[in-house]
Amino acid sequence: VRQSRLAVLGAGGHGKVVADTARRAGWTEVVFFDDRWPDVRCVGPWVVAGGTAELLSTHHEFDGTVVAVGDNARRLARLRELSGAGATLPAVVDPGAFVSAHATLGPGSVVLAAAAVNAFAVLGAGCIVNTGASVDHDCVLGDGVHVSPGAHLGGSVRVGEAAWIGLGAAVRDGVVIGCGATVGVGAAVVGDVPERVTVVGVPAKPFRAGQAR
Ligand SMILES: CC(C)(COP(=O)(O)OP(=O)(O)OC[C@H]1O[C@@H](n2cnc3c(N)ncnc32)[C@H](O)[C@@H]1OP(=O)(O)O)[C@@H](O)C(=O)NCCC(=O)NCCS
Repeated sequence: VRQSRLAVLGAGGHGKVVADTARRAGWTEVVFFDDRWPDVRCVGPWVVAGGTAELLSTHHEFDGTVVAVGDNARRLARLRELSGAGATLPAVVDPGAFVSAHATLGPGSVVLAAAAVNAFAVLGAGCIVNTGASVDHDCVLGDGVHVSPGAHLGGSVRVGEAAWIGLGAAVRDGVVIGCGATVGVGAAVVGDVPERVTVVGVPAKPFRAGQAR
């Protein structure tokens, strides 16, 4: 069996899930990097070998690097830094997820357990389709989008860069969600959401009326 080494940047909760997923997806070794190093030197069974600077100088020793930082803007910034440095940025897909052969995953995107990405969906770089979430046919997700656990996007939904769809939210087919927008836990989104606005509720309305976040 060929040895394959994956570097994971970000040793927080999301990083643990990504490392676990990567092992089940066939990566034989996972090494963490986190800017809290050297204060943090291990996470579960995995070693933390350095911070971002160390990863930038050693990424060529790995077969792939994944950025597992939960915050969308930070994840995207790190991903772009590593991409610029020439790192290999594979997508990581849980063997228990479904990704259509007709879907496209951008570099560094992760699709976690029991999630589904259906036909002709196109995901940008560094997206997270979290546990049990679904992205339906013809959806287009920009870079750095996070679809949280149990959230569902109907067909042909467009989600702008670094937008965050909260736990268990539902988005009606064809809706457009702007860059940097946030959809709160449990929201039902039935109309478009402007850039950087947070919406909550059923049906979803702007959170703290008039205040863009
Ligand atoms: C919408 C959200 C961003 C607001 O966060 P916040 O600014 O910290 O808000 P607070 O928790 O201080 O709550 C403020 C008020 O909004 C209400 N509220 C918060 N989130 C809400 C939601 N999703 N739906 C309805 N009401 C909500 C609270 O009940 C509270 O009401 P009150 O003032 O009457 O007590 C956040 O609650 C949220 O939904 N984040 C997504 C989290 C997520 O999906 N995580 C996934 C991890 S993988």
